[in-house]
Amino acid sequence: MKVSKKIINLETESAFTVLARANKLISEGKNIINLGIGQPDFPTPINIQEAAIKAIRDGKHGYTPSNGILELREAVSEHIFNEYNVEKNPEEILITPGGKPTIFYSSLILGGERNEIIYPDPGFPIYRSMINYSGAKGVPLYLSEEDNFEINLGKLEQLINNKTSLIIINNPNNPTGSFMNKNKIDKLVAMLEKYPEVYILSDEIYSKIIFNDSQMPSLLNYDTLIDRLIVLEGWSKTFCMTGWRLGWSVWPKKLYEFANKLCVNDHSCPNSISQYAGIEALKGSQESINNIKAEFHKRKNFIHSKLNELANISCFEPGGAFYAFPNISKSGLSGNKYADIALEEKSVALVPGTSFGDSAENFVRISYANSMENLEKAIYRLSTI
Ligand SMILES: Cc1ncc(COP(=O)(O)O)c(C=O)c1O
Repeated sequence: MKVSKKIINLETESAFTVLARANKLISEGKNIINLGIGQPDFPTPINIQEAAIKAIRDGKHGYTPSNGILELREAVSEHIFNEYNVEKNPEEILITPGGKPTIFYSSLILGGERNEIIYPDPGFPIYRSMINYSGAKGVPLYLSEEDNFEINLGKLEQLINNKTSLIIINNPNNPTGSFMNKNKIDKLVAMLEKYPEVYILSDEIYSKIIFNDSQMPSLLNYDTLIDRLIVLEGWSKTFCMTGWRLGWSVWPKKLYEFANKLCVNDHSCPNSISQYAGIEALKGSQESINNIKAEFHKRKNFIHSKLNELANISCFEPGGAFYAFPNISKSGLSGNKYADIALEEKSVALVPGTSFGDSAENFVRISYANSMENLEKAIYRLSTI
């Protein structure tokens, strides 16, 4: 069988493997608490659901433009202006089925055999997978616990060379929950300004889930990066819309048509119904979203303090997203073994740190997108590992 080498090298996202294992155990009657998958546990707000139902009834059933309907791109443009006071016209905005295609397209457009792409480790596993698939050399930028899992600028600068085509930044970060504030981002941008040939993919999909700062320091705020900046965003996390498959991205003018062509080749257009729901999400009431954010904040405080009370765990304080990334080295177990025991013996699904990169062997990721009641139970169960 002559299967392409690229396909053989493709990696996966272990959170889905953990989800499948957890679901199998649930079907066998086990009472599993799932802290593995990274999706809000709240339903999509009702006004968004209603907008989708209306779109179906109004007959919005056909193909849409490959880059998304104008009304939605205008809503995104307005959203960017309201959030960051930055003007982006709808021709720079691309609507995709979720945020993931933006990673795929950036890697395909800026990857290839001659290029190097820097990505965070630990980081979202799809970065490395897509970089490898493109043929580029993936260069891990290790984020360490001593730096609160923020980017160490000295380390990053050492990795940049004349083959570097793209640097991927993810703030707030999956899997660690770390958040780089404006002061840190100012310094990062000042350093990046020295390398005008290098493109930046800023994955800001958790931009609305930040705890101690009221303002997300989006890279969209920095004019000096604008003609080489790709921003990945979407509805999945902010609006509890993971299954709707809807994302938006901002592209530099010279790359936009490449990305749009990839859309036509790949999926023709995003789901039409989801796009109408997306307009309501951005323009309708934000009340439920604010409540959800407050609930995540409460859970973050709980999980962070309770994890640190456990004998075998220490956990740095997350500043955003809905993940905690405890260090479990005091247990004497690797992250893989710890996650196995948690699932098989304690019925708690977690994701081992190595699913997010080679540097995270002593860690596990806990998604606290689960009820307080289940979080309390999970802490109790983990206390005996
Ligand atoms: C950092 C990061 N980027 C992108 C994505 C992809 O999001 P979507 O489900 O919208 O494709 C995720 C999803 O978990 C993520 O954690």
